[in-house]
Amino acid sequence: MQTINATAVAQEVILAARGVTKFYEGKTERVLVLDNITLELRAGELVALLGPSGSGKSTLLRTLAGLVRPSLGQVLVHGQPLEGPNPQVAIVFQSFALYPWLTVLQNVELGLLAKELPRADRRRRALAAIDLIGLDGFEDAYPRELSGGMKQRVGFARALVVEPEALFMDEPFSALDVLTAQNLREQLLDLWTEREMPTRAILMVTHNIEPEYSALVEAIYRLMNSTQARVEDILPLARPVQVPVVERPYQVLPHAAIGDLTGLVGHLDEVGGRQDLPVLARDLQLELDELLPLIEGLDILGLGAAQEGDAVLTELGREFAAADVQEEKAIFRAQVMHHVQLIRQVMDQLRETDSHSFKEDELLEQLQQYFSEPEARRQLDTAIDWGRFAELFAYDDDSGELYLEEEEEESGDSE
Ligand SMILES: Nc1ncnc2c1ncn2[C@@H]1O[C@H](COP(=O)(O)OP(=O)(O)OP(=O)(O)O)[C@@H](O)[C@H]1O
Ligand SMILES: [Mg+2]
Repeated sequence: MQTINATAVAQEVILAARGVTKFYEGKTERVLVLDNITLELRAGELVALLGPSGSGKSTLLRTLAGLVRPSLGQVLVHGQPLEGPNPQVAIVFQSFALYPWLTVLQNVELGLLAKELPRADRRRRALAAIDLIGLDGFEDAYPRELSGGMKQRVGFARALVVEPEALFMDEPFSALDVLTAQNLREQLLDLWTEREMPTRAILMVTHNIEPEYSALVEAIYRLMNSTQARVEDILPLARPVQVPVVERPYQVLPHAAIGDLTGLVGHLDEVGGRQDLPVLARDLQLELDELLPLIEGLDILGLGAAQEGDAVLTELGREFAAADVQEEKAIFRAQVMHHVQLIRQVMDQLRETDSHSFKEDELLEQLQQYFSEPEARRQLDTAIDWGRFAELFAYDDDSGELYLEEEEEESGDSE
């Protein structure tokens, strides 16, 4: 991973990582994700984290935001050790992470929930942020009515409404088409360099080095000549890239781990089977982009859904919560076989082969025709996680081999 820094003059350090190291305990080994990172974010700086997929960019960003605890080392905010979420930081996510059931205004107001402001103040500040980011007139629209670029504007408004000292962005433009991304990026940089937002520093994650790098070069020019020539006159515009649109024969599985799904069902059951989404996010200490995939997972599995701003359990979800482990697995098995196409495909393939097993490589390649490489991996990982829990098949991490569970093998086609 590398950092590129778009400023020249040394200023006050807002945020620092000192020897930050993070590892996750895998089943057989310890996975080192961040290795002794030391970094400073100073007032006036725009710092970009660059690196290939899986290199730990998001983990570092979350660590600096106080959402992930380092295994070793320290994060300092104005020289003080950070314990818990950093209130000076707001994050914009690639996935937008908007609640489809809430209006633009309500989504933006969510950014202020932690602040316990009077309702009228919350509204006033949200409206100002919406206006600032160019969404005036869309306060009452729902996300589905908005284009991708407008959705991400809502994401920015929700971050800026808290007037964060540091704005963090985790690949905020990569889900947008090139021109929309460029437009939004330029406007954001304008707001920043013209000091229309009080944000003092920006930390941006990207793995899309080329366009993001050229954006940084632009930013550097802007910072140096902010009142002089327009950047467009100096630099050629980033070259638009043709992105082929592929119809996917696969549904897109949310990245929802079994432990989190069952935990969420348990929690919702405890509170009576229904809870206001923002309250739920707060109770579970989840960021919006972490909670949404879980709700989507429950929805796919018929265990829960989102209704009018609440997360609710279905009747089956309540049954699942009350069930013992074996019943739980039986319900889950029936649901994934019924609703998850990738798991059905794996099962068909396992039953067709004599050995009742196969290596994942070919399936992974197939998925890569429709998903990016890391996304294909995540889709398969999710299917494996769910299928294992359902005791439909087993998986060997080392060999990447999938095979039928014993019982299934003996009873042959039990479907
Ligand atoms: N909670 C977790 N438990 C275990 N491993 C994790 C966890 N979070 C991240 N990892 C692993 O840490 C590594 C770095 O992940 P991270 O998401 O930070 O990478 P990234 O650089 O942001 O990748 P991308 O460009 O795909 O977003 C990956 O190998 C990932 O599988
Ligand atoms: Mg990432």
